[in-house]
Amino acid sequence: PLAKSLFGLEDLEERIRLSYGLKKVIVVPGDCEVSPFTKRELGRAGARALLGVMRADDTVAVTGGSTLSELAEQMTTPLSVSYRDALIVPARGGLGESVEFQANTIASTVAKRIGAHYRLLHVPDLLSEEAFLSLAHEPNISEIVQIIRRSRIIVHGIGDALEMTRRRRLDEETITKIKNAGAVAESFGHYFNEQGEVVHSMLTMGLRLEDIVRTEIVIGIAGGKRKAKAIHAVLRFGQEDILVIDEAAAAEIVKQI
Ligand code: G3H
Repeated sequence: PLAKSLFGLEDLEERIRLSYGLKKVIVVPGDCEVSPFTKRELGRAGARALLGVMRADDTVAVTGGSTLSELAEQMTTPLSVSYRDALIVPARGGLGESVEFQANTIASTVAKRIGAHYRLLHVPDLLSEEAFLSLAHEPNISEIVQIIRRSRIIVHGIGDALEMTRRRRLDEETITKIKNAGAVAESFGHYFNEQGEVVHSMLTMGLRLEDIVRTEIVIGIAGGKRKAKAIHAVLRFGQEDILVIDEAAAAEIVKQI
């Protein structure tokens, strides 16, 4: 489209796509840190990217966050496909988000908007190892976890590591541990260093790292200049297929290429 070539966005998309070996990169104009309109556009582009690859009977796992919440709001019922047999699930259990940004909330909104089914995962935040192990043996929980782990598509947000430790109100000891490990990014409840290695994981149920590795389509969505480092780190982790970002993040990422 004209707007994209005018802003050189296609060039940014192609440079990032080639540099990280991605299937598809979508860059929306603007900076969602300063403009709610850009954040909405990011959500809309993410929604379109998801619908572009989603089959009628897919299981799709979604994470939490304000960007995914915007994606959920921007999902529209497609006219040509029925998603009656599709299932939307949260990628992982409680990570300490406020209700509107929880993966459960986002999964149910996405499902309702496209006429799909949803299943929720009710796991308390900040589990002790003991609680984790006993919950894992609950038949209801283990059943939904098995479904989540077989998702064909994952759609996830990407956050700055320190910002996420604060937002999720982790205790100071854990924050220091994560900081000292060199974490720059957080996604799916995992913290990554600049090389894309996992340096800390939140104890909760749902998708495991090995599931992400074998998932057919991984869609990352994030925006804002301040997230460039985090996006870079998650791309280094190497599992993304489709990346949806804004111009501010894209311009910053290409500086490091
Ligand atoms: O894991 C990362 C966060 O969910 C991103 O949250 O979209 O509100 O920045 P955000």
